Amino acid sequence: MCGIFGYVTNKEEALGPILIAAAERLTYRGYDSVGAATINSGKIDLRKDVGKVDSVAAKYNIAEMRGQRGITQLRWATFGEPSQVNSQPHLDSKGDMVGAHNGNVVNNVELREQFMAEGMTVRSQNDGETCVHAVERYISRGYQFIDAIRLAYGDLQGDYAFVIGRADDDKLYAFKKGSGMVVGLGDGFTCVSSDLPSILPLTRTVIRPQDGEIVTLWADRVEVRSVKDGKQIVRMPETVTESMDAVQKGGYPHFMLKEIHEQAQVARELIHLLDGSPDVQPLIEKMKSARHLYFIGCGTSYHAAMAGSVYFAQLAGRAVIPILAPQFIAQYAPAVGYEDVGIFVSQSGETKDVLNALEAAEARGMTCFGLANVVGSTLTRATSFCLPLCCGYEISVPATKTFTNQVVTFLYLAYRMAGKSTADLARIPDLMVQTIEMVAPQIEAIAKDINEWNDMYCLGYGATYPIALEGALKLKEITYAHCEGMLSTEFKHGPLSAVSKGFPIVFVAGPNDVPLIISGINEVKVRGARTIVVAEEDSRLRANGDDLVVIPKSDAQTNALLAVLPLQLLSYHMSVMRGFDPDFPRNLSKTLTVD
Ligand code: G6P
Repeated sequence: MCGIFGYVTNKEEALGPILIAAAERLTYRGYDSVGAATINSGKIDLRKDVGKVDSVAAKYNIAEMRGQRGITQLRWATFGEPSQVNSQPHLDSKGDMVGAHNGNVVNNVELREQFMAEGMTVRSQNDGETCVHAVERYISRGYQFIDAIRLAYGDLQGDYAFVIGRADDDKLYAFKKGSGMVVGLGDGFTCVSSDLPSILPLTRTVIRPQDGEIVTLWADRVEVRSVKDGKQIVRMPETVTESMDAVQKGGYPHFMLKEIHEQAQVARELIHLLDGSPDVQPLIEKMKSARHLYFIGCGTSYHAAMAGSVYFAQLAGRAVIPILAPQFIAQYAPAVGYEDVGIFVSQSGETKDVLNALEAAEARGMTCFGLANVVGSTLTRATSFCLPLCCGYEISVPATKTFTNQVVTFLYLAYRMAGKSTADLARIPDLMVQTIEMVAPQIEAIAKDINEWNDMYCLGYGATYPIALEGALKLKEITYAHCEGMLSTEFKHGPLSAVSKGFPIVFVAGPNDVPLIISGINEVKVRGARTIVVAEEDSRLRANGDDLVVIPKSDAQTNALLAVLPLQLLSYHMSVMRGFDPDFPRNLSKTLTVD
């Protein structure tokens, strides 16, 4: 997803390296184009193009850019194809102002037409440019800058964060609606960004503006005003104590591999936090007394929601409806009410589909809780209570540690719903470490063997069904191959016809489902498939499957959680072997703040 960063200092400086470094720190969000603008003694220097930060920076010598104010933006194309002209930042008609946004202005097309009819110079299809012209429209009508922004805010529909500067003053202005934005206060400078990681190496003193607030940044201070009445708002700076280790690769070749290896440690911290949390019991009581329970998410988070629903039914005898967020709106929103409880699951806490579902649920009076990793994200602020995932930063686009901690949270809550002691769960982190040790070399060898295939299946049953879906999603995300996740028993109802000699099929087997999985294995094996089975040691599976990837002995629910680790590793190795960057897969974004 797009990311913005703005920097204001009190003297002319080499801003290029600061902007490049900030852009690099935003890359984990996913992007296709890069741009930088500096304002120096009344002149705007703008350089931008499609490509990676290092190549665009080298091609346009961004490092040499100097000024008192700078803006950089990473664009993930939504409005307008990835191209030089659609890259951000953008200028106003006369080239006196420069701005960039992240997010989505949904009335972009209508506004562009209005601006052109009003005689403005519209150069691109991009909605970031629309934000610039929205301000320009009122400046050219004689409004002061803050008032122009207030009026522009009323015209811009959608969710976005926007930063803009004009050539002839000493400030940057930023405002937001629905998208994340953080302001940093440093020694002799201020900055604004879409998120914390791009700010923390510069300063730990931050302000988090809310929707409908305009921030004016000078080199030595910031001022926050309300869009509604233009009045000043007092927002006290806070000091961030989080470690920055997570944004370094720590010796691993990729963030994804590092984050796979961090899963045990973050699970340990999460279980410790849940054990000591006074908030869990009231949450359990609310869920117990609910008429219907919904677990709502998208992508990987939806798979965790599915796993949670299996755990709640199997362990606590409680039915839960897991549902993809947009489908929740279409299907269930009309049916929910104040008697129902929903848990909205999202690692980023910013996924627009999830926030839309939350809004629809709240409009019906449903009790809404969150489960998110990014503290301070929209979901954590918009729900009455949001459980943290405690994973630290997850930089790699494919979610790994946030997924397992979502699943651990649901497992924990299911135990508590069932009135079971959670003491047993304390062994999970060690089992995760053991799993990686046991499977790593074998998975690498399997990845090599099946790497030529661009079609695969990943099958599970019961608690392992959501894990099979998640394994397939990881493979799709980073190997660009087609991999379908499916209930193992469904394979014979159609996909069986796709099987040819050597066709790779991964089975994820729970300890109670071995006979059923053996039938599935034989059905496809006799038709030539290569079967890779992820399961506890079992002589029956060893005798029937081609490869048995053994994970430690546990119970049906923990088994499913552990089984995702070899699947994450399989997708990682296949991605690297194909020459792709698993951390930043093409076309995908870590934080999807658009519909
Ligand atoms: C994007 C990412 C997926 C992620 C999904 C939900 O599509 O590419 O990997 O699972 O969003 O993200 P969330 O932050 O809500 O968990």
